[in-house]
Amino acid sequence: MKKFLGAFKVLSPKAKRRMILLFPIILIGIFLETLSVGMVIPALGILMSESYFEEIPALLPYLHYLGHPSHQELIIIGLSGLAVSFLLKNLFLFFQVQCQGTFVYSAQREVALELFRNYLNKGYLFHLKTNSATLIRNLTSEVVSYSNFFLMPFLNLLTEGLVIIAILSLILWVEPEGTIVLASVLALLVFIFVRATNKIVGRWGRKRLEAEEQKIKHLQQGFGGIKEILLTNKIEHFIRRFHLPNQISGLMNKREYIFQYVPKLGVEVMAIFGLVFMCLYMMMDGKPYQEVMNMLGLMATAGFRMIPSFSRILNNLQSIRYGWASVDTLADEFRKYSKEYKSDQNTKDLIYEDTAVSFVREIEFSNVSFSYSESEPEVFSQINLSIPKGAVIGMDGKSGSGKSTIVNLVLGLIEPTDGVIKVDGQNLRGSKITKWQTMIGYVPQEIYLLDDTIRRNIAFGLDDSAINNERILEVLSLVRLDGLVENTSEGLDLLLGERGTRLSGGQKQRIGIARALYHDPEIIVLDEATSALDQKTENEILATFQPMIGQKTFLIIAHRKSSLDMCTKVYHLQDGTLNPRVI
Ligand SMILES: Nc1ncnc2c1ncn2[C@@H]1O[C@H](COP(=O)(O)OP(=O)(O)OP(=O)(O)O)[C@@H](O)[C@H]1O
Ligand SMILES: [Mg+2]
Repeated sequence: MKKFLGAFKVLSPKAKRRMILLFPIILIGIFLETLSVGMVIPALGILMSESYFEEIPALLPYLHYLGHPSHQELIIIGLSGLAVSFLLKNLFLFFQVQCQGTFVYSAQREVALELFRNYLNKGYLFHLKTNSATLIRNLTSEVVSYSNFFLMPFLNLLTEGLVIIAILSLILWVEPEGTIVLASVLALLVFIFVRATNKIVGRWGRKRLEAEEQKIKHLQQGFGGIKEILLTNKIEHFIRRFHLPNQISGLMNKREYIFQYVPKLGVEVMAIFGLVFMCLYMMMDGKPYQEVMNMLGLMATAGFRMIPSFSRILNNLQSIRYGWASVDTLADEFRKYSKEYKSDQNTKDLIYEDTAVSFVREIEFSNVSFSYSESEPEVFSQINLSIPKGAVIGMDGKSGSGKSTIVNLVLGLIEPTDGVIKVDGQNLRGSKITKWQTMIGYVPQEIYLLDDTIRRNIAFGLDDSAINNERILEVLSLVRLDGLVENTSEGLDLLLGERGTRLSGGQKQRIGIARALYHDPEIIVLDEATSALDQKTENEILATFQPMIGQKTFLIIAHRKSSLDMCTKVYHLQDGTLNPRVI
């Protein structure tokens, strides 16, 4: 039960309020449902007996008010009342469905948005450790499952459950014994059904969830490695890898689909058997024919609404079970997030009220050690490094020695496992990191390009109205890419294609450099930023940095000696230690 309530934690307070607002609407709907079913009894009564109304003393004043209508007039009033009550009920139900749909699908939208925000706010280390296929699955299929297999079934369950209770109370009034037997039989059926199917349907749901993640992973790998796949002719292999999870998830969905029909078929058969049994029982009991007919009419009408209702209850219970794996996953993500968020807020409020970062002296590493996880060895230990403002610091070392890791530490993307990093003597932690990062222009080893225009790729993450076109042209000419836009009619709206498929390796790097320079940062960090360029272009680009020397601070990682020529000091990283090198 606690788990069940935990599933609602995924919803925002606003969505929860909207859900509570749905309750009165559902109740009115149920009232109208019961009323319309209840109308069938007097309507049938009037049809069958001329003195029907006169037998109910409570109604006499109304008859008097209507001027004692004839039987025929009463039939017209009764039947039109019946028709109008069904019309009103169904109009209202249409309204109810609209409210329900709006609630469920806006909740779905909000959950996806909030989860995306949650994932993007997680640290860089989280993303290094988590496969993006899991995140994409949660954001797409699982969010949909949450609404289709939990929220919607929950509301339906509520509605149908109340409808059954209301109708049962109605017939309880007319036929107490039969109703009590019926209610107990129904309760027993639900119990048996849930016990019998819970485990197996839950397992199907979990299998589907796992398969969904594998599907996305294999799709991503198939497209991401297309060049190697084509070249080595491994198309069939990748299709096979995708085929298995695809088959499993399809199979689970098929089973769940077929299973959805079982309650309907079973309930109908049982209802008909029950009705026949009841009729025979009453007739053998010597009840008058008229009474049997009345009971039959009532049961048929009640059953008319109750049978689908009851099978829907079983369906929805089953859906919730099938979707529970998704609900659990999402609830878990949100629980973790709200915990982290709270502890984050606490440290921010307590330790760092002042988020300003001053950088006039130096960035200083003291005895910094780092390992990517507790089970892995340290990439380096106890390193000391000082980057004075205005310096041009170079760094080289073998592949895998930890250069990019040092860069990530400087950028504040990861935190030291041991030791401290200070900027002007202040600890680089908490919300100061965000401020610090705005001061840095960073060119990573692998440039990530958006499937968008060159303009948006350089201004990365700025809204169109905030983009300064002149500055874009300026940085484009600094990285010698002005030719790229001059030769096309699209100009700055030139599309680069997904992951920059329309650019060469060197052009991509230069877009990366232009992006880093666009905001005119105080600190420029280049991680093998010119490795794909020919000597001439590299020299040209490095020359554009010359005028900035002294004003801006540089950290340059490079293998090639020529890339480090402009450095005031070069460090060599080897076997986890950092040593100055003679230039
Ligand atoms: N996400 C990660 N999880 C675990 N280990 C990692 C991770 N990223 C890097 N490493 C390890 O950390 C070490 C340093 O990696 P890093 O990327 O800093 O090297 P590098 O000096 O930049 O190499 P290169 O010159 O090839 O870019 C490597 O041994 C690598 O195996
Ligand atoms: Mg590297």
